[in-house]
Amino acid sequence: MLTLFADIAPDLAAVEEIMSRQLRSNEPRVAELVRDLGEFHGKMLRPSLLLLTARALGGIQPGHQQLAAALELIHTATLIHDDMIDGGEVRRGIPTPHVRFGTSTAILLGDFFYTRAFDLVADLGDPWMTKTITTTTNVVCEGELLQMVAQRDAGLSRAEYDRIIYAKTAALTEAACRLGASSGGEAVRDAAAAYGRACGIAFQIVDDCLDLVGDPQKVGKSLTSDIERGRLTLPFLLLLEQAPVDQRPALAETFLGARSPQAVAAVQRMVVDGGGVALAMDEARLQVSEARRHLAGLPAGPRRDQLDELAAFIVARDF
Ligand code: IPE
Ligand code: IPE
Ligand code: MG
Ligand code: MG
Repeated sequence: MLTLFADIAPDLAAVEEIMSRQLRSNEPRVAELVRDLGEFHGKMLRPSLLLLTARALGGIQPGHQQLAAALELIHTATLIHDDMIDGGEVRRGIPTPHVRFGTSTAILLGDFFYTRAFDLVADLGDPWMTKTITTTTNVVCEGELLQMVAQRDAGLSRAEYDRIIYAKTAALTEAACRLGASSGGEAVRDAAAAYGRACGIAFQIVDDCLDLVGDPQKVGKSLTSDIERGRLTLPFLLLLEQAPVDQRPALAETFLGARSPQAVAAVQRMVVDGGGVALAMDEARLQVSEARRHLAGLPAGPRRDQLDELAAFIVARDF
């Protein structure tokens, strides 16, 4: 667990406990499958956003822990499916479910995680919370779908990229903070949600940079998959923007044509040496400033300051 989140360590432990309880099965073979995923824990970013927001607004209630567990289960479900789609073989330092159990089992496992998450939210009996989670999950799925159909499209626009990363990643962090702000009024909830949204956008831009420059050991997952899948992410889009107009089609062709490991490595160098990653990191830092500005809508104090620190961590991380 990140030391940054030490203050909420007991709450995060409670969230993990709720998750494992929620994933129990009376079917011994299914239980064994889920147990095999036992160490499948990540950074717990979404639960942390939710819990720290709740703390900044008066306190963490048991319902917040349940909501945080539901979000993390949904997030994990998206990763199980995403790794199958992206051909990701390692995640959180271990082989991914589709590698370990096969594609069919991994599809069903993802469904199992999604539906147990919805079950948990239903138990809360709060229509606003339920609606927030179901709508958000649908937006995430829509984002992954949009990304899929936009794959290998040399004409992908910046506006489309922005819509993809909002939907697939920032919608969930936005919802985490909105739900964490459940005890506040409309204006406070909106400010918290805007903070979460900007954090999520910055987080995905950094993820797209790490795909190109990350140390696989530290990041704990398969990298360079964006090039392999023909996914034009911000570092490349900004490189393209800088290039003379007549050179852009050739650059896009080089990117989309990279199939062999050597060609992928060459594209990686081209984007990094051309300054694409540095430019994208500037954009991520702008989003973090935006996130921090929205914190003005929350009561000032040391607990709000932790949300500020969390935003800073998003662009400082190398894992
Ligand atoms: C990975 O999310 C998917 C993205 C949205 C970039 P995380 O980087 O939060 O993954 P874990 O949960 O820590 O493994
Ligand atoms: C994944 O984005 C976002 C979701 C799972 C919804 P990425 O494909 O960039 O995430 P990683 O890099 O595999 O973690
Ligand atoms: Mg992926
Ligand atoms: Mg990625």
